[in-house]
Amino acid sequence: MSFKIVEEATPRLNRSELAVPGSSPQLFEKAAKSAADVIFLDLEDAVAPDKKEEARRNVIEALNDIDWGNKTISVRINGLDTHYMYRDVVEVLERTGDRLDLFMIPKVGTAADVYAVDMLVTQVEQAKGRKKRIGFELIIETALGMQNVHEIAGASPRNESLHFGVADYAASTRARTTNIGGVNPDYSVLTDPLGEDGRREVHWGDMWHYAIARMVVAARANGLRPIDGPFGDFSDADGYRAAARRAAALGCEGKWAIHPSQIGLANEVFSPSEKEVERARRILAAMEEASREGRGAVSLDGRLIDIASIRQAQALVAKADQITAAGG
Ligand code: GLV
Ligand code: MG
Repeated sequence: MSFKIVEEATPRLNRSELAVPGSSPQLFEKAAKSAADVIFLDLEDAVAPDKKEEARRNVIEALNDIDWGNKTISVRINGLDTHYMYRDVVEVLERTGDRLDLFMIPKVGTAADVYAVDMLVTQVEQAKGRKKRIGFELIIETALGMQNVHEIAGASPRNESLHFGVADYAASTRARTTNIGGVNPDYSVLTDPLGEDGRREVHWGDMWHYAIARMVVAARANGLRPIDGPFGDFSDADGYRAAARRAAALGCEGKWAIHPSQIGLANEVFSPSEKEVERARRILAAMEEASREGRGAVSLDGRLIDIASIRQAQALVAKADQITAAGG
C-alpha cells in the first residue's frame, strides 16, 4: 500500500439514481415510493428556462413536505455558467430542513468550479446553522471536465461521487452519435477475412470505455463512488442491462435511471448475486484459515487466492450487508 491513505466518502447505496424533473411535481410521490437508492430532483437540463423558478419552488416544497423514507436525496443545480445556480444553492439551503443530502453539480470543468460551490454552500450552512453537511455529486460530462477529472475529484471534502454524463459528453467532444449511452455501429472493428470463405466479422466496441474507465480511476483514487449516467432508450431493457454490466465491470457502483423501469434493472446489475456473496464468504473463511497456518496464498475450487482476494471479497460482502441493511 502507498503511505497515502485514501479516505472513503460517506458510504451510501447508489445502485440506482432516479432523475426526476423539478418541473414535474406529479412524479415526486411515486419517486419517493420507488426502489431507487438515490433520487435527484433536477433543476438543470430537464427543466425549460421559463420553468426554472417554478421548478425550484416545487423542489423546496417537496424537500419539506414529502416523506422520502430512507432514500438519499439530491438536487441537481444549474451550471456555474448560468445565473440560476447561486439562487438554486441559496434558496434550497435557506428554505429547507435537513432532508437534503447532496447537491449534484453539472458540467464541472475545473477544480475551481467545485471550490466555488463549496464556498457558497459553506456560507449558507454557517449563516443558517445547518448541522448536516451537504455532499457533492459531480457530473463529468465535458471535455474540460474529463481533462481535469483527477483535480476535480480531490477538490472538496464534500465530494462523494463522480457521474459520467454521456449525453453532454458526446456533445462536448463532438462524438458522432446521437443516442444517449447506447452503442454505435461505427465504433466497431472489421476483421480481416476469416477462414476459407473469406467471411469478415464486425465486432462492436464500446465507445465510452475510455471515458468511464478514466472517471473510475479518478473517483476511486479519491475515495469517491463512480456512477454511470443515463441510457436514453428506456424501452430497451437488455441494452440498459448490457451498458450497466459494462460499467460495473469497470468499477462503477451504479447507474442513472431516467425512467422508473430502469430502477429495478440497475438494482439487479449492481447488487452482488447470492453466488458471488457465498463465494466471497468462502474466500474470507479460507484466507482466515491460511493466516492461522501462516500461509499467504491458498487454492479454492482449483484457483489461487491470496491477500488481494481478501480485499475484493471484503468489498463484496460489505456491499451485500449494506443492501440487506437498507431492506434489499
Ligand atoms: C447527463 O447530464 C448527461 O448529459 O448525460
Ligand atoms: Mg448533462
